Amino acid sequence: MLSQKEMQNTVTIFTTEIKNISYNVNRNKLYDLIDMKRRCSMKTAIIYATRSGTAEKCSEKLSEMLSGESAVIDIKKVPSPDLSGYDAVIVGASIRIGKVQKEISEFVQKNLETLKEKRLGIFLCMGAGEESFSEYLSQNFPQEFLDRCKARGFFGGEFNLERLGFLSKMMLKAASKGKPQPHIIPGNIDRFVNDFEN
Ligand SMILES: Cc1cc2nc3c(=O)[nH]c(=O)nc-3n(C[C@H](O)[C@H](O)[C@H](O)COP(=O)(O)O)c2cc1C
Repeated sequence: MLSQKEMQNTVTIFTTEIKNISYNVNRNKLYDLIDMKRRCSMKTAIIYATRSGTAEKCSEKLSEMLSGESAVIDIKKVPSPDLSGYDAVIVGASIRIGKVQKEISEFVQKNLETLKEKRLGIFLCMGAGEESFSEYLSQNFPQEFLDRCKARGFFGGEFNLERLGFLSKMMLKAASKGKPQPHIIPGNIDRFVNDFEN
């Protein structure tokens, strides 16, 4: 049996604990709200190059998934996009014979200093497996750029034969003979968005 004093002490401790829990819950909620506001107010330019549509499809998907406003820009149609209104830039490209489209590598080279002031992400569409991803990145982009990317996405690829010319089709058929068909990996796009925004 507790004495009246012990009872009072227990009640005081209990009340303080409840207050602390409620304070922590409210504080965490507040941090979540501040973070959500930051994500929603971020304006992102998704700048991509494609040959048969995969990188374009992935760019559209990213645009749908990002919390804030975003613009999807084809670098071949808009060779010098104005980056001034954007807080963040995602660069997307695909691989052909080990290389990304020259418009994309030139864009990164030319705008490196401006890009360094933004939140950055990079993704690749490719037929090879993830083991080739880091190598393709470092062969095609300056390390200075890659080091600043909050998210690096290996999105897989597709063989869109109907959109390829005769020679490309022949090369692809020869190179991929006996190998499994690549596909876009939705889980990697989800992970990219999470890494990019947080
Ligand atoms: C001619 C040709 C060469 C390719 N070379 C490579 C390569 O070297 N490495 C690779 O991983 N994928 C390679 N691919 C596969 C493409 O990267 C893949 O199909 C990708 O989804 C294409 O994306 P895009 O439609 O956005 O250009 C090649 C595809 C073609 C048609």
